Parts: sequence; structure tokens; C-alpha cells
Amino acid sequence: MMANLIQKDREIIWHPYTQQAEMVDPLGIVSGKGTILIDTNGKKIIDAISSWWVTIHGHGHPYIAEKIYEQALQLEQVIFAGFTHEPAVRLADRLLEVLPGKMSKIFYSDNGSTAVEVALKMAIQYWRNLGDGKNPRRSKIIALKNSYHGDTFGAMSVSERGVFTLAFQDYLFDVEFIDAPTKENIDSVCDRIEQTGEVTACFIYEPLVQGAGGMIMTEQRLLNQLLEYCKSKRILCIADEVMTGFGRTGRLFASEYLSVQPDIICLSKGLTGGTMAMGVTACTAEIHSAYISADKTKTLFHGHSFTANPIACASALASMDLIMKAETFDAIRRINYQHLQFEKQLKKSVFFTEKKIQNVRVQGTILAFELESSSGNYLNTIGKKFAKLSLERNVLLRPLGNTVYILPPYCITEEESQKVYTTIIKVLGLL
Ligand SMILES: Cc1ncc(COP(=O)(O)O)c(C=O)c1O
Repeated sequence: MMANLIQKDREIIWHPYTQQAEMVDPLGIVSGKGTILIDTNGKKIIDAISSWWVTIHGHGHPYIAEKIYEQALQLEQVIFAGFTHEPAVRLADRLLEVLPGKMSKIFYSDNGSTAVEVALKMAIQYWRNLGDGKNPRRSKIIALKNSYHGDTFGAMSVSERGVFTLAFQDYLFDVEFIDAPTKENIDSVCDRIEQTGEVTACFIYEPLVQGAGGMIMTEQRLLNQLLEYCKSKRILCIADEVMTGFGRTGRLFASEYLSVQPDIICLSKGLTGGTMAMGVTACTAEIHSAYISADKTKTLFHGHSFTANPIACASALASMDLIMKAETFDAIRRINYQHLQFEKQLKKSVFFTEKKIQNVRVQGTILAFELESSSGNYLNTIGKKFAKLSLERNVLLRPLGNTVYILPPYCITEEESQKVYTTIIKVLGLL
């Protein structure tokens, strides 16, 4: 092991989402097994957030590791324009079998942000390709307030404008942000869409749970109503299932809870079981058909060096094998049941009655609540304090501003879940 790991890291590494002036020493992690991360001192930490929501089957999964190893020896990488390979085709086939809606094509990229970039490009160019060059083209994009779709420029543009995007706001394209639908505002939200008239190209949304915006949960019926309205106006619907995909909300995809299905779906994170970086954008035959033309300008000019990397595909195929096992959904249901019990416990607790915590909620394997704070801003310090106190008790939690959430790997044991819950109760007592 490197003797000066942390010191060397501080000298030469720039970590994401980390203010450089007040960076605390990062924790050196040596290995991971299941829900557990082991640090350089041998300390075992429960990863209660699936390492930024990706590690769905746990760390160091032997089956995924084996499939990656086999693939690395067979074919590690090949250019994907003009060439293909079995893992890419098999994965596309399997995804199309299970994706909601009428998806017919799979476009590969590298991560969640690129999956979103591709989706936006697909939708914008779809309308351009269909246009006659005379009538105004549909070009407006609608997104939800509090949305988060990634950190590249297109993805930032369709995300809530706030501290993440502040430095770049002059460079982001215009987007119409609408309120997430509630019983009270659904009519005015639909009116707002009506006002954008015939010029709206697409609506991008995180189905059921807006993740980075603070695990905001939307009622199915209202989201359905909104999507129905968009469909009636021929607005393309883009479901960003980067976080919600692969069982996170209790079903394989959050869109399965809805009767109105998207035209485009973005996937990443759990796609490879969290082992390799990969993004997928799936679309319907109708979208794809606008790109079949003798006119070369009607080509989707997008690709990455590592598009459909065979090792990433092998990893995703292995993850699909695991997620399709009955045991995985048994585990998801068990986590949901335990979360619901803990939700009840929290709602009965003094923290809730004294309003130290609010809005305890559960969707599938996600439990979230807000800490009382003078500001819900991402930069407020109460979340950081909560994370520090949890980590001192060997549980990795990383609140979003004042929103505390649990989003565990599906392999978490009942005992490990209990340890997470008791740690939360202890930390609440210390705040
Ligand atoms: C809904 C959603 N979309 C897109 C992204 C961006 O994914 P990535 O971090 O892989 O670029 C995220 C990341 O948290 C996300 O939650």
C-alpha cells in the first residue's frame, strides 16, 4: 500500500464537488465487498448510498468481475462506427426486451450526462429532420424545477439553475422550467405547456423521484396527467432513468409505474451494476425513422471513443443476469419493507414531533427526509455535519443539502440496514 496516499492525493488530485480551500483529507479506500467499503486502516464502512447511486449489487461482485475478466481477454475495445461486437448487440437486445414503452434502438455512450446529451440531441434533431425548412421548427425544451440531469453543458441547461450551474449560466441554452405537478398546480402547469404552443420539442423528467434535487417524490397520477398532456401536444417525452433505473424505485424502471410511456429513455449508474462507466439512450422507431435519409445532414453526428466498450457491455450483461433473479427483487421488497418500518419509527420519534426532521418519505429502496435548517440550500452545513457524524460511526451517508437519504445496494443485509437506521437516530440526537 502507498505510504503517503493521502498526502500525494492532496498534492495532485482535484476531487469532484469539493471546494479546494476547505478540503478535508479524503478517506483512502482499499477494497469493497458487498455493502462494505474497507479503508486504509481496515475500518469497515457501510455504503448506504451505493457510491453515488451506482453499486446496485454491492462492491466486488464475483460474477460481474469474472465476466469483465473474460471479456477483457477476448476483446477489450473496438471502434463502434462501422464495427460491432456480440456484447453490444446482446445487451441492446436484453434492454429492449425489458424497457418500458416501445423502445426500438439503443445508442451507447459513457455516463448519465452523455446519455442525457444524446437524448436532447436526438429530440432536437428529430424535429429538424422532419421540418420543411419553412414552418417554425419545434425547438423549445421543457424541464422540471429542481431537476438534475448531469454536469455537461446540455445536461446542465436542462437542470435547475443554482449553485452547480452558476458559473456557466451565460453559456446555457434557454429552457422552460415548470413546477413538478401537484394536485393544486396541475392545471396551471398544463396551461404553461399550452402557452409554449406548437414550438416545444421535448419534455425531460426524472420519473417519480427527482434525485439530486433532493429526492423529491412525485405522485404517479399527476406525472401521468402531465405526460398525457405533453403527448397530446406531440411533445417528445424523455425519461431520465439514470438514477431510478434498475430496481431503485421498487420496479425495474420507474416508468413502469406510469401508464404514459416516454419516447426516449436515459440510463447509466446501475446499468453495469455500478462497475463500469456506461450510458444508454433508448428511443422509439418513430424517433429513429427521422434519421433515415439520403440527406447526410440528417445523421446523428454523435459518438465517443469508448462507445459500447465491450467490457462495459459485459459488465452490464452480468448485472442484468443478477437483477433478473427473483432473489434481487425479494431483496428490493425487503429493503422497502424495512424502510417503511423505519419511516413509521421516525414519524413517531421526538425528532419528528419537534420538527427537527420533516417530510419522511419512501419510494422503493429510497428513504429520505429533511433536516430542520435555516436554508435548504445545497451549501448549508448541517448535511455535512450529518455526513461526518455518520462516517465516524462507520456509515456512509451524504445528504443533499439538508436532505438525508438512504439508497443502499440491494445486497444490504437486515442487520446492516438496522445499523444504518440506528446510526441515523444517534446522529439526529447529536445535531
Ligand atoms: C437523474 C440523473 N441524470 C443524470 C445524471 C448524470 O449522471 P453522471 O453523473 O453519470 O454524468 C445523474 C447523476 O446523478 C442523475 O441523477
